[in-house]
Amino acid sequence: MQLKISDLSFSYNKKEKVLNDFNLEINKGEVAALVGRSGSGKSTILRLTAGLEIPDSGRIEIAGKTVVDEQKFLAPEKRKVGMVFQDYALFPHLNVYQNISFGIDHLSKKKRKERTAELLELVNLAGFEKRYPHQLSGGQQQRIALARTLAPGPKLLLLDEPFSNLDTELRDKIRKELKSIIKEIGITTILVSHDKNDAEFMAEKEILLN
Ligand SMILES: Nc1ncnc2c1ncn2[C@@H]1O[C@H](COP(=O)(O)OP(=O)(O)OP(=O)(O)O)[C@@H](O)[C@H]1O
Ligand SMILES: [Mg+2]
Repeated sequence: MQLKISDLSFSYNKKEKVLNDFNLEINKGEVAALVGRSGSGKSTILRLTAGLEIPDSGRIEIAGKTVVDEQKFLAPEKRKVGMVFQDYALFPHLNVYQNISFGIDHLSKKKRKERTAELLELVNLAGFEKRYPHQLSGGQQQRIALARTLAPGPKLLLLDEPFSNLDTELRDKIRKELKSIIKEIGITTILVSHDKNDAEFMAEKEILLN
């Protein structure tokens, strides 16, 4: 089991519960889609898993290790979870090389260079090191955001509506590319989408929130 969520409850304000004893299990290497209407709590589940919110009760385990329960809270940077947000959120003042190598500054300069080159190869953007985010198309920005997230070698990849900013044509292309990248590295992935087609195309398993 790469991710196990047990009896998770959460509310932003103490009045209304967003999650009530929510359970989820995802096997290693599995790609799961989280679908459900707007406001059903999809992004919240990702945020709780990444450690950006603290649950009211319940437990989350990643790769067999408890990252949060009633006693414990492991900081986001220690969870080995990579999250790509809906708006990609690349650093506008950093070029592609700097964006990707941002999360691996503990590596030597040589290792960082090698790792960044490897990731640019993976997302098919070798040679784009010196470009700034505003000099990239939407689809290219999205692939750089993915490369940046994958750079530290996360055990779990969380993608929040990765196709929502793309037009239909690009969406098709990116969907295929994303699927092949995920398969190539075999990373366990949760994809949030409100689109049934995206979910069916990308994922082996669908989790419906209501
Ligand atoms: N920071 C916040 N403070 C208070 N309430 C919030 C906050 N973020 C989300 N909510 C509420 O929590 C509920 C779940 O929100 P969430 O963002 O997880 O939904 P979602 O399924 O991702 O929706 P969408 O498909 O629109 O992205 C919603 O009712 C939302 O209004
Ligand atoms: Mg959302």
